[in-house]
Amino acid sequence: MKDAYDVVLLPGDGIGIEVAAEARAMLELVAAKTGATLHIDEITCGGRYYLEHGSRDWPEGAEERCSAADVIVLGAVGWAGPDGAPVTMADGKMAGWSPVIGNRMRLDLYANIRPVRCLPGIKHGISGRFAEVWSPSKVDMIMVRENTEGLYSGMGGMHTTGTQVTAATDTRIITRKASEKVIRKAFELSRARGKGAPADGKKRVTCIVKNNVLYGCKLFLEVYREVARDYPDIEQDVAIVDAFAMFVLTQPEKYDVCVTTNMFGDILTDLASVLQGGMGMAVGCNVGDDHAMFEPIHGSAPPLAGKDRANPLAMLGATAEALGWLGHRHHDARLIKAQAAIEQAIAGVVAAGAPLTADLVGADQAAPRSVVAKAVRDAVSASL
Ligand SMILES: NC(=O)c1ccc[n+]([C@@H]2O[C@H](COP(=O)([O-])OP(=O)(O)OC[C@H]3O[C@@H](n4cnc5c(N)ncnc54)[C@H](O)[C@@H]3O)[C@@H](O)[C@H]2O)c1
Repeated sequence: MKDAYDVVLLPGDGIGIEVAAEARAMLELVAAKTGATLHIDEITCGGRYYLEHGSRDWPEGAEERCSAADVIVLGAVGWAGPDGAPVTMADGKMAGWSPVIGNRMRLDLYANIRPVRCLPGIKHGISGRFAEVWSPSKVDMIMVRENTEGLYSGMGGMHTTGTQVTAATDTRIITRKASEKVIRKAFELSRARGKGAPADGKKRVTCIVKNNVLYGCKLFLEVYREVARDYPDIEQDVAIVDAFAMFVLTQPEKYDVCVTTNMFGDILTDLASVLQGGMGMAVGCNVGDDHAMFEPIHGSAPPLAGKDRANPLAMLGATAEALGWLGHRHHDARLIKAQAAIEQAIAGVVAAGAPLTADLVGADQAAPRSVVAKAVRDAVSASL
């Protein structure tokens, strides 16, 4: 247990700034209620930072502050410039790359762990109608996405003929080392949660690949088979990515833990968030051996920004995961208790059906973000 924990908070852009303010308020409440000291170091970053400062998407020294932190909490990045296009830096990377993908690579946050649960009371919003489509009892899986390489390795380029870009390449790097680390993490998670898939209670790790076409996936699957030998208590399962995109919606109960490469995981977890009520409910835990960064999986949603309408529950769920990760790492029961209190408070607000934002109940019954976040804080305050 530490006397004090250093928390770096990276608000980012758009609704990232708004939900990060709710994360901050929650961290301050937890500190006040539990007696844990949380030093919050807020670092402005993202597309707007780049537009205002011109050369970097976060301040000089931000890398070191993140490396030194006990844990990092991220809102979301991404902003458009005066021409309406996403702000891009001189090196061609999206402005906001450094706090998100940069941190994942530099701090070796090799596993992006995304719990996919449907809380009782969730109404799934489809074409403007809200109804329970997926039963909470059938949706309880963890998706694990490789987080440091694959198609997001940053390698590639544009080929220009005259003034026209005529070809572009993105190099997908899949290494044995990174594959093994993330696959082993998936098996460990299946063993640790122990409850298996909702359909049959069997511990199962599903490896999602396109090995019939892609070399990287052939290697990923080979490594999966090797690692699986160390876990005879866990069932092996392989799904081709395109078919999995259907199965995850039509038979989510079959899945316990799923593991896949970077871009497949990026896309599939946004898809799987539909089972949870949408991206406003989905949490991403970027975890390595020595560092971790927690975020909602959604982006900066510019059309929602500044309107007090963003769902704060994904960010508050991410804050709970951050506290739980810190608590387990440092054997601090206060923080583990805080994680449970936040998760119960979120579940309580969802079960009550109000106050909730428009993405969960429609515009007519929607409450502002700030009201939803305060309801969660009030419940946490009462239980801690
Ligand atoms: N990790 C990150 O920081 C991250 C992730 C994804 C996208 N982005 C960036 O975000 C910007 C916008 O991207 P996008 O529109 O494709 O994705 P987005 O996640 O911002 O929004 C997608 C859809 O989900 C809705 N949504 C997202 N979060 C919500 C919330 N909390 N409450 C209610 N509705 C919510 C939005 O209104 C929109 O309809 C882009 O610049 C993109 O690069 C950043």
